[in-house]
Amino acid sequence: MPLDAGREPIFTGWSARDSSLWGNAPMRLRHRLHEHELFSNGAIERLVEGYPREHYNLVQWGSQAGWREGEIEGLSGADVIRAISVGRVWINMRNLPLVDSRYGDLMNQIFEELEGHMPEFRTFTRKLGLLISSPLSRTHYHADLPGQSLWQIRGAKRVYVYPRMAPFIDDATIEKIALSGVEVDIPYDPSFDQKAEVFDIEPGDMLHWQLNAPHRVDNHDCLNVSMTMEYFTEDIRRAHMVTVANGILRSKLGLAPKGRATTGAAFWSKALLQRALRDTPWVRRESRPRRKPEFRLDPSRPGGIAELGAG
Ligand SMILES: [Fe+2]
Repeated sequence: MPLDAGREPIFTGWSARDSSLWGNAPMRLRHRLHEHELFSNGAIERLVEGYPREHYNLVQWGSQAGWREGEIEGLSGADVIRAISVGRVWINMRNLPLVDSRYGDLMNQIFEELEGHMPEFRTFTRKLGLLISSPLSRTHYHADLPGQSLWQIRGAKRVYVYPRMAPFIDDATIEKIALSGVEVDIPYDPSFDQKAEVFDIEPGDMLHWQLNAPHRVDNHDCLNVSMTMEYFTEDIRRAHMVTVANGILRSKLGLAPKGRATTGAAFWSKALLQRALRDTPWVRRESRPRRKPEFRLDPSRPGGIAELGAG
């Protein structure tokens, strides 16, 4: 039964324990989005079809040339999904609320519920995206700067979440991510898996973990549809300012910053330092040039791919 957004709660079975775990440990919650009318097969197909070029990345991961970018131009939503299900590709549709305000309303409903469960929880710079990925797609070991959650809508995947501490990740690495804007390529060793919390998630599962905790994802052998949600809180914003300031001190001034206080004089001097310097050419992260699309999806071809410019 489709749900009437705005009436039925999205989270099911929230407990007091969930409120105390939130942000402090990896956790699994249950939700109803896989049954929501905005995530019916038809709604997902309509959303994909004609998704604005500037708001999606289509990436092929199986090619010999490594990762390549492509386009979905001219395909129906059903054809895009058919091609992804036989290919080695994923499409990341960013900024759902900007593209379709109904998803913005849904995002606001989710945050209202979270605030209802946790009265201190206040967020801003909220984002929502939809990731449709081929069977066996992988997301490599990485860490994110905003608060993050992952919502499973279709299919199944295995998610490894690692402690937010050395040797899994250290402050210098998080600073590098903040200054460079590159989330992947952080050092990973297979022995880390012994300390990971491992979740096999299915439609109706949502995962959340502590800020900056490294994670990686392996799809099971099936098409996956997942929603990603991110946000900042005042604490996360302050932690980010400290990260940027410490990154400047370490990488540009050769100092070894130790403190990560988010209040007091040390915090405020770092807040000023990063604000003064973060947008200068000396510090500003190089924006990665957009890769030229090399293929388009085509469900009639093996692997669901047609080369662009191949005639
Ligand atoms: Fe992530």
